[in-house]
Amino acid sequence: MSAERSEVTARDCWPRHVAIVMDGNGRWAQRQSLPRTAGHREGAKAVRRVVQACSERGIEVLTLFAFSSENWGRPRREIEVLMSLFLTTLRAEIRRLDNANIRLRFIGDPNAFSATLQDYIAKAQRRTAANTGLTLVIAANYGGRWDIAQAARRATEEVAAGRLQPADITPELLQRFVCLADVPEPDLFIRTAGELRISNFLLWQMAYTELYFTDRLWPDFDVDDLETACAAFAGRQRRFGLTNEQTARQDDA
Ligand code: IPE
Ligand code: IPE
Ligand code: MG
Repeated sequence: MSAERSEVTARDCWPRHVAIVMDGNGRWAQRQSLPRTAGHREGAKAVRRVVQACSERGIEVLTLFAFSSENWGRPRREIEVLMSLFLTTLRAEIRRLDNANIRLRFIGDPNAFSATLQDYIAKAQRRTAANTGLTLVIAANYGGRWDIAQAARRATEEVAAGRLQPADITPELLQRFVCLADVPEPDLFIRTAGELRISNFLLWQMAYTELYFTDRLWPDFDVDDLETACAAFAGRQRRFGLTNEQTARQDDA
């Protein structure tokens, strides 16, 4: 194989869309006898590292699970710190993100956030909307079931308005209404901190995503860990329901 061909193959194996459940902030802090909130602050530094690495490597979409619809059940003080961390991090990073040609987007229900945070989220999305580099998606007050329900609701509204028939509601139609319908589906899912579950992340979108779990706690996750996850992804054979032989033929074509 020529050097040129092997380079093309390596690049083709990079995921276009990486989705991460950033877990383990609390345990990172507890291991050092610090309050859980110290882990969230350290986790924000890992976000900066990983965003920069994805942006430099030409990954198209990075989706980060920052706050789930279930996380509202946590102690009030922890939620307050998380909300204020979102705002301060956004304020501190927006110029850098914009300069790096990164398009920032949010998925989830923003209505539960303070008016200040909602305003800032809208402003940050507008400011970076025309950028053409990495699309950085922050899932905040997001739940996969909420996402499917809001898609079903919007499709039903179309039926009620007479623009669609009930028989039109197929997977392909609902796909148009779920979050992130306009970007490639996640190729690689990463979850840190050892838990082997999806925790209501992108349930619809991850139907054929490759799953990767690591024991590394999110505040410790670095560029080498990202490279290791991407290398594991490159070694996977994705079949999408077909046979080995069919998939190999497609690869050769
Ligand atoms: C992930 O870390 C961050 C959020 C869910 C906001 P955790 O806070 O869940 O950390 P652990 O799982 O308790 O260690
Ligand atoms: C998932 O982590 C949500 C985020 C990382 C934002 P959790 O820590 O909330 O998940 P569980 O409770 O361990 O399933
Ligand atoms: Mg957790």
